[in-house]
Amino acid sequence: MDIEKEKIEKLWNKEAYYQLIENAQGKGEESKFFINIIADIINKHNPTSILDVGCGEGGVISDLAQRTSGTRNFSGVDVAAIGIKRSKKKGVTNATFELYDGLTIPFSDGKFELAFSTFVFEHLTKPERVFAEMGRVTKQGGYILIACPNYGSPFFRSPCNKENKTVLLLKRLVKSFMPKFFFTESFCWEKVTPIILDKEDHIIDYDTTIEPNLVFFMKHIKTNPIYEIVEANSFWGNFTYGGVSRAKKIFLETMSFLGKHNFPFIKYYGPFFFILLKKV
Ligand SMILES: C[S@@+](CC[C@H](N)C(=O)[O-])C[C@H]1O[C@@H](n2cnc3c(N)ncnc32)[C@H](O)[C@@H]1O
Repeated sequence: MDIEKEKIEKLWNKEAYYQLIENAQGKGEESKFFINIIADIINKHNPTSILDVGCGEGGVISDLAQRTSGTRNFSGVDVAAIGIKRSKKKGVTNATFELYDGLTIPFSDGKFELAFSTFVFEHLTKPERVFAEMGRVTKQGGYILIACPNYGSPFFRSPCNKENKTVLLLKRLVKSFMPKFFFTESFCWEKVTPIILDKEDHIIDYDTTIEPNLVFFMKHIKTNPIYEIVEANSFWGNFTYGGVSRAKKIFLETMSFLGKHNFPFIKYYGPFFFILLKKV
């Protein structure tokens, strides 16, 4: 195992990390926002078998089990033993939780009608592999949902990315217009070096390993005939921009205005990466 991966796995298994996401799950408006969206999708499409990839300590499944009606079976997988242990302790009667190696989801092909993942993809070392696995375990006609920060957007970046903001913005805008054939092999997301691997004090998203980019991902999906995009959204304007300079706030509000009015590209360059796919 390479050193970086080993360090990341150690990070997921620290008590302090789960303390942090537990607090974020209980109060974080972003987390609640996406749980509500997933609950609506479940109530609309009515999947009976549901998988949460990177379930953490089972908070999302536990909330969804309470907020959705009907008979459903939830399964959660994660690379963190401590997360799985805590998930099991939550006592959700229609859910099972399993530790896995982060690469091969321990279920047979086509087992699930919905496979979702929230706030995990920005932490992956092999996102293409995890996505392929989500596709494999999803039934034909079933759905895949991914939500995470859109850190690969020209207008955002993870706290681990210290590149000059203007250079980053220009580089990413140019990349957005590059022809499709550049994007067939991978998602074309940029890797970053997590900055808290060795520390005990965890700060959300200082553990980012890769910067998801919704536009590149959509280009990738459009080359893949087994998936249909049901919905893609970057949620411009749903959140306020705290802790940024006045100039940046005005800039983001302008982009938000354009994004909300479906301005090409900018529409998908908001703060979040949200995609719902159907396996056809
Ligand atoms: C920020 S937490 C998100 C937890 C939960 N999904 C939520 O929305 O609250 C990131 C989770 O991703 C998990 N993770 C990291 N690498 C993973 C992989 N390859 N496959 C599945 N989960 C992974 C971590 O163990 C951690 O529980």
